[in-house]
Amino acid sequence: MKLIKEIQALQLISDFHKADYKKIGLVPTMGFLHEGHLSLISKARQECDIVIVSIFVNPIQFLPGEDFSDYPRDFVSDYHSCRIAGADYLFYPDAEQMYPDGFLTEVKVKTLSDRLEGTFRPGHFCGVTTVVQKLINIAKPDIIYFGQKDVQQAAIIKKMMKDLNIDIEVQVCETMREESGLAMSSRNIYLTDEEKSEAVNLYKTLSEGKKLILDENWTDMNALKQNLETYLKSNAPNIRLQYIAITDMEVMHDIENLNNYKGDVIISLAAFIGKTRLIDNIIFNYN
Ligand code: PAJ
Repeated sequence: MKLIKEIQALQLISDFHKADYKKIGLVPTMGFLHEGHLSLISKARQECDIVIVSIFVNPIQFLPGEDFSDYPRDFVSDYHSCRIAGADYLFYPDAEQMYPDGFLTEVKVKTLSDRLEGTFRPGHFCGVTTVVQKLINIAKPDIIYFGQKDVQQAAIIKKMMKDLNIDIEVQVCETMREESGLAMSSRNIYLTDEEKSEAVNLYKTLSEGKKLILDENWTDMNALKQNLETYLKSNAPNIRLQYIAITDMEVMHDIENLNNYKGDVIISLAAFIGKTRLIDNIIFNYN
């Protein structure tokens, strides 16, 4: 595996492989890699000739007061993980290179970026789409890999690709979980043991929602959301739920009632456990 820090170097490398008709896969990350990230790299390894992993803690997707400076980092461990997972190139640029003085451009997917996560993290998705567009222009992938864990992020990226005619396949890979059901996240490192055992209730709540819809035929989604809020509160009184939403997958509009609805249903939520903000979701098909 080669470590690349210069934007132009990676562009030249990608041009070289493209001239050779190689299929390039890109896995964008912010590092502190866990099994979730590694599952994306393995998928890319299976499907592509050349696998590029990027590690860049993107400052413009953090809001003031968020955990940008505290975001967990462990480059040496990440380097080895990427190598073992079979990456060919690890792209690790610094912020001065990605956002030199005078940088002025934003890529924004309207409306969809302002809902759900966007309500609580205004500007966050604009930072994500801007950096992903840059990474695409640098790595020039044929396939780009994202996790379902960040389902709104994946939906926004797909919309950006469609609207801007970016001819790249987007692969969304399933969420990797710990045995307890807790979704793997770089931010889980912030949790104390006690908080971790409380946090398992997030996925339990999502699973309860799926069960009530599929096995017990609930159709009124407002009633269901209220039920799930109560369920979470009674199981984990210290968790502060920020939102719970039941939406479709493409534009992530609220589903009020499941009568006459067919397709993918997503139940997603965000919650604070102590100072740590976690998100999770569950997706299933409803006919
Ligand atoms: P990061 O949080 O490091 O996540 C990188 C990729 O790993 C994302 O596509 C995310 O959805 C995926 N991922 C995270 N946890 C996962 C899990 N438990 N199972 C499967 N996939 C998981 O998301 C970002 O970075 C950034 O916003 C980025 C896209 C890199 C832009 O800066």
